[in-house]
Amino acid sequence: MSVHRNVKKVTTHVLQEMKDAGEKITMLTGYDFSMARIIDTAGIDVILVGDSASNVMAGHETTLPITLDQMIYHASSVVRAVDRALVVVDMPFGSYQGNSKEALSSAIRIMKESGGHAVKMEGGQEILESISRILTAGIPVMGHLGLTPQSIYKFGTYVVRAKEEEEAERLISDAKALEEVGCFAIVLEKIPAELAAKVAKEVHIPIIGIGAGNGVDGQVLVVHDMLGINNEFNPRFLRKYHNLYQEMLGSFHRYIEDVKSGDFPNEEESY
Ligand code: KIV
Repeated sequence: MSVHRNVKKVTTHVLQEMKDAGEKITMLTGYDFSMARIIDTAGIDVILVGDSASNVMAGHETTLPITLDQMIYHASSVVRAVDRALVVVDMPFGSYQGNSKEALSSAIRIMKESGGHAVKMEGGQEILESISRILTAGIPVMGHLGLTPQSIYKFGTYVVRAKEEEEAERLISDAKALEEVGCFAIVLEKIPAELAAKVAKEVHIPIIGIGAGNGVDGQVLVVHDMLGINNEFNPRFLRKYHNLYQEMLGSFHRYIEDVKSGDFPNEEESY
């Protein structure tokens, strides 16, 4: 019997049990009440209130502009919708890189004001002090390595990371450091599948991949991408489960026609 089916509420401990039992973990992003309700009802294990909200909700080119207040707004909407999933909230750019005290107060604001269950932070050894301080306050932390979009201006492009040995070695040691400091899971974004599988084998905490192949403990996608809402984003790692862009466009066209022609509302739709 799967761990996942028996669980009323997913916790960080449940995720560890899933990894230990060899059961894959499902994770999707969510930013608003209505979508989060559907995602939770479907039985997704983890909802990530990602700072990708900066792109898909606010239309920014990068994740950098989104603020702590905006993340808290999105996260509190998701938390109100969710009965079962673990809600992890991204700490936005600028809310934790300064120093560990600032990082802790940002994490406390997220937990207090949104009701989220955990935070996620991008980076390895350079943010260990901040992670440690946040963990000491009893706040679970998910790590994020590989392509870390908050550092896009350092990388210069969104291409696959850690293809060279030096960066791959650094990623493995970062993952081990995140495990050692006490992170409950790590997201690995856009790295070679073989490297991701090696990390998942060598660290004991759950490894959730996005563009990191099938040898990890679970998968995450941005919900707007997997539903095909944005038809301009087509990376190789993305499986689209719908073409909502076309479906929605069709519905909006039909609505325009119906209103313009006077067909809507009809008698049954009127009081
Ligand atoms: O912000 C986000 O959506 C993320 C996922 C891509 C993992 O960090």
